[in-house]
Amino acid sequence: MLYDHLTIVGGRAHPALAREIADYLGITLAAVEIADFPDGEIGVKLNQNIRGCDVFIIQPTGPPVNRNIIELLILIDACRRASAARITAVLPYFGYARQDRKDSGRVPITAKLVANLITTAGADRVLTMDLHAAQIQGFFDVPVDHLFAAPILDEYFQGLKLAGKDLVVVSPDEGSIKRALQHVERLGGALAIVDKRRSSAMNTQQANLIGGPIRGKTALLFDDMISTAGSIVGAVTVVKSHGAGDVYVGTTHPVLCGPAPKRLSESPIRELVVTNSLPLSAEQRLPNMKVISVAPLLGEAIRRIHRNESVSYLFD
Ligand code: R5P
Repeated sequence: MLYDHLTIVGGRAHPALAREIADYLGITLAAVEIADFPDGEIGVKLNQNIRGCDVFIIQPTGPPVNRNIIELLILIDACRRASAARITAVLPYFGYARQDRKDSGRVPITAKLVANLITTAGADRVLTMDLHAAQIQGFFDVPVDHLFAAPILDEYFQGLKLAGKDLVVVSPDEGSIKRALQHVERLGGALAIVDKRRSSAMNTQQANLIGGPIRGKTALLFDDMISTAGSIVGAVTVVKSHGAGDVYVGTTHPVLCGPAPKRLSESPIRELVVTNSLPLSAEQRLPNMKVISVAPLLGEAIRRIHRNESVSYLFD
């Protein structure tokens, strides 16, 4: 079935990205009023008719995570009750993704809970990017299109002429090895892995480097997200202590909470390349940071979903 009237609704999580996506598609954002009531509840009003429309709601669920999730659910509910034909939740960043399994007794699987909430609210599809674990797609009982920012990041690093034999792509932990290997395939160079142990949500311990050698070489570290920056800064310290030359970091989701801006600015990172999957405050924007827009990638995926065209072309 083809849907008429492509409609983009932007929540308050990332209005600039919603605008960029609408610009890519050559349409204007839907007229929506969103405001907080004095007690903190969120009020939403659609100021245009969306009956029968193919609606895409742009709302990364980054900090403030809980507010952004509830606002997304309320927006979905408003669109459903306004008789939208189809509703797609566009989650450039999906929060709570790290709580995706019972890793000790009597803990929730919050990623699954949030997926249930989104589908129960009325989302017919989900469009997302670089989920912390690809299996989270299966938490949703509706179709999920899962995009990757890695090719966009690699294109940027290719432009810096980092590719080649003097490059070592470093996985900051064992969970990111597969991702690092894909970067090696595109950029060339060798692979190294940092042995990371997490001691708490705020702190990690890293000491050993597996693979290499890295002495005198350019190190390029990739991670799906930087939250407190404990993982990435610890990994940078390890590669530097093993004699690496210039160190570059690429990440899709700059969550950058708590001590992250300070930790990153004190770390010997030559350039930190992030996407705009999440908004950045003035404090989070660092002098050595390059922000690459994912609006064309998301916009193109929306265009293809709307026209029932293949999206898998965008995965390469
Ligand atoms: C871990 O598995 C992730 O890929 C990231 O390395 C981690 O979640 C980043 O968190 P933080 O910046 O707080 O160390």
